[in-house]
Amino acid sequence: MSETTDERGDLGAKALPGEASIEARLRPGNLAEMVGQNRLRENLAVFVRAARERGEALDHVLFHGPPGLGKTSLAHVVAAEMEAPLRVTSGPAIERPGDLAALLSNLDEGDVLFIDEIHRLPAVVEEILYPAMEDYKLDILVGQGAGARSMRLDLPRFTLVGATTRAGLLTSPLRDRFGWAARLEYYPPSDLERIIERSGCVLGVELAFEAREEIAGRSRGTPRIANRLLRRVRDFAEVADGRGKPVDRERTRFALERLDIDESGFDRLDRSLLLTLLEKFDGGPVGLDTLAAAVGEDRGTLEDVVEPYLIHEGFLARTPRGRVATRLAREYFGIPLADAAPTAAVEEQPKLL
Ligand SMILES: Nc1ncnc2c1ncn2[C@@H]1O[C@H](COP(=O)(O)OP(=O)(O)OP(=O)(O)O)[C@@H](O)[C@H]1O
Ligand SMILES: [Mg+2]
Repeated sequence: MSETTDERGDLGAKALPGEASIEARLRPGNLAEMVGQNRLRENLAVFVRAARERGEALDHVLFHGPPGLGKTSLAHVVAAEMEAPLRVTSGPAIERPGDLAALLSNLDEGDVLFIDEIHRLPAVVEEILYPAMEDYKLDILVGQGAGARSMRLDLPRFTLVGATTRAGLLTSPLRDRFGWAARLEYYPPSDLERIIERSGCVLGVELAFEAREEIAGRSRGTPRIANRLLRRVRDFAEVADGRGKPVDRERTRFALERLDIDESGFDRLDRSLLLTLLEKFDGGPVGLDTLAAAVGEDRGTLEDVVEPYLIHEGFLARTPRGRVATRLAREYFGIPLADAAPTAAVEEQPKLL
């Protein structure tokens, strides 16, 4: 079954139900509203301008990077800047080649087709995409059995925007057919402060500078988390002080503590992963499956959502033999290296590559 939604309906949103529409309101709608990712924004502005001046569709673009950094938002931005309609679907929603063929043959010249989680496209579907992306042709099979023959249809010039948290899982034929692949990076606190300020305006909540700073510092470099924390801080502040009062640092700190978010922005799952690694496995190395079982989380969540930030911050390392907690992690939790004697035995084991 294939599903598409128009413009701002979004199959890929991973917000809580009911919060999805708020997330859509907070989503930057064009390049000017988008904060940070300066290199990416500047490049995109150039490519958009060049394509528009030539009167062509923008080349296919792939956005990759950890969850919540703005990939879906960028798909909307691309369509807005090209002044083209956006069709939204996702890898898992396209099950059969016919689903994609139907989608593609309904596109108009210049349309932007957004495939979220593009690494989850089935292989048989992906093959349809190759000639569509490269030559704007659709190969379809007409008839059955010995009488079946292949027909080639022309497609309008469209732009495919792909998004993925797992660029490494894309096949190289697919990756190579994107004219541009852009990686989104974690946002520095100063960018997150601006995002929180903008979101505060949209939500009608006024925050003191220190309050914005406090939230930004604990948002794991991620706008979606910054926006979510902002909404929760607003809840605490409104219940305590009533609506319309500016939110100060004290209220913010109180709310964040109640949410179990520590000074580094680590939540319960971050801490549980690191502490399990340090206390049960003497800092590692330990395989991802073992670690996932020990913290009671799904392997994919650890790999896609939890680990990238811990690695980025230097608390965790991925090695061929498994996950390892770094010195920084030991220091953070005050667990001295002396406890790590058994690790020596593990290190003597043959390397599993
Ligand atoms: N550069 C930005 N400027 C302002 N707000 C942003 C920016 N990037 C993301 N956001 C905010 O963060 C929210 C999450 O972004 P988005 O849904 O685009 O992330 P994503 O990369 O698609 O995540 P996922 O991998 O989970 O699908 C958006 O609704 C928007 O409010
Ligand atoms: Mg998304």
